[in-house]
Amino acid sequence: MLEQLRKIQAEAEEMIKTAIDLPALNEIRVRYLGKKGELTQVLRGMGRLSAEERPLVGKQANEVRDYLEEQIQSKTRQIKEQEKTKKLREEALDVTLPGRRIGLGRRHPLTQIMDEIQGIFLGMGFEIVEGPEVELDYYNFEALNIPKDHPARDMQDSFYITPEILLRTHTSPVQARTYEARVPEVPVRIIAPGKVYRRDDDATHSPMFQQVEGFLIDRQVSLADLKGTLLAFARQMFGQDREIRLRPSFFPFTEPSAEVDVSCGMCHGAGCRTCSYTGWLEILGAGMVHPRVLEIAGYDPEKVSGFAFGMGVERIAMLKYGIDDMRLLFENDLRFLQQF
Ligand code: DAH
Repeated sequence: MLEQLRKIQAEAEEMIKTAIDLPALNEIRVRYLGKKGELTQVLRGMGRLSAEERPLVGKQANEVRDYLEEQIQSKTRQIKEQEKTKKLREEALDVTLPGRRIGLGRRHPLTQIMDEIQGIFLGMGFEIVEGPEVELDYYNFEALNIPKDHPARDMQDSFYITPEILLRTHTSPVQARTYEARVPEVPVRIIAPGKVYRRDDDATHSPMFQQVEGFLIDRQVSLADLKGTLLAFARQMFGQDREIRLRPSFFPFTEPSAEVDVSCGMCHGAGCRTCSYTGWLEILGAGMVHPRVLEIAGYDPEKVSGFAFGMGVERIAMLKYGIDDMRLLFENDLRFLQQF
């Protein structure tokens, strides 16, 4: 029987040594030490032994059992340790790998231009006011001296919601709203940025675009104040070497009215393809606020006067960056946007 125990020990020890994982070790435990295990069988057969043999075999069997338990335990620790190391190695962070680049965003060119325009006028003491994009016919037209059947409405044929409500066709209604709200207070120095809507769609017109309206009401405001303000704006926006010129024009809400041009930055006035060989680029409409508009709001045109102007933000962006198709500004093509 002692011989049998030695055999069991040697056999089990060999198996424990070569076990590769925890399930394999468990199988070995069951096979030798389990309820029906080989060692357990031996112990059960001890009843047949003589009184002298029994303690000897019992002692030996216990030693074998303790020894195998210990072997299994130490092998278990070893396997667990190996598995942990293996897992760590698989999950390891390789700090020498090149990093993944995070795409950096930036502001849309129109937002940049809008911020720039606002910054320039804030610097000159103007305040920023906004008006609604869904506007009453009254503020969009009537209060600006554009009566119902006035032909000037044709130029701004628009999106009507009801006969009296439309998507505003320009930011000028903010003039009418502000005058009405502030009368008789002066001075009023305001710019009104925002979206406007017209039934227009080609390379240089979009059904939605942005304008910045500007207006100043005070005592004794003259055309020279308008020209000085716009020159300061044009030079900060396009460069200190630029000039502006005023060409006579017509708007129902200003008198006199003007189209304002800035000298061409490509040819400096000599004439080139960019400026259609005129030396000048149109940037906005402007004029002295019509006495009728002041009157409608409640101001006394004998006591106060003012100037106003309105510029298209997309147009300013196109001129500043040399963009020849307005639609590029709305297509969100990253190859285009990343250039700004
Ligand atoms: N509202 C005009 C337009 O959208 C632009 C404009 C012209 C605004 C002259 C003004 C102005 O304030 O004085 O075509």
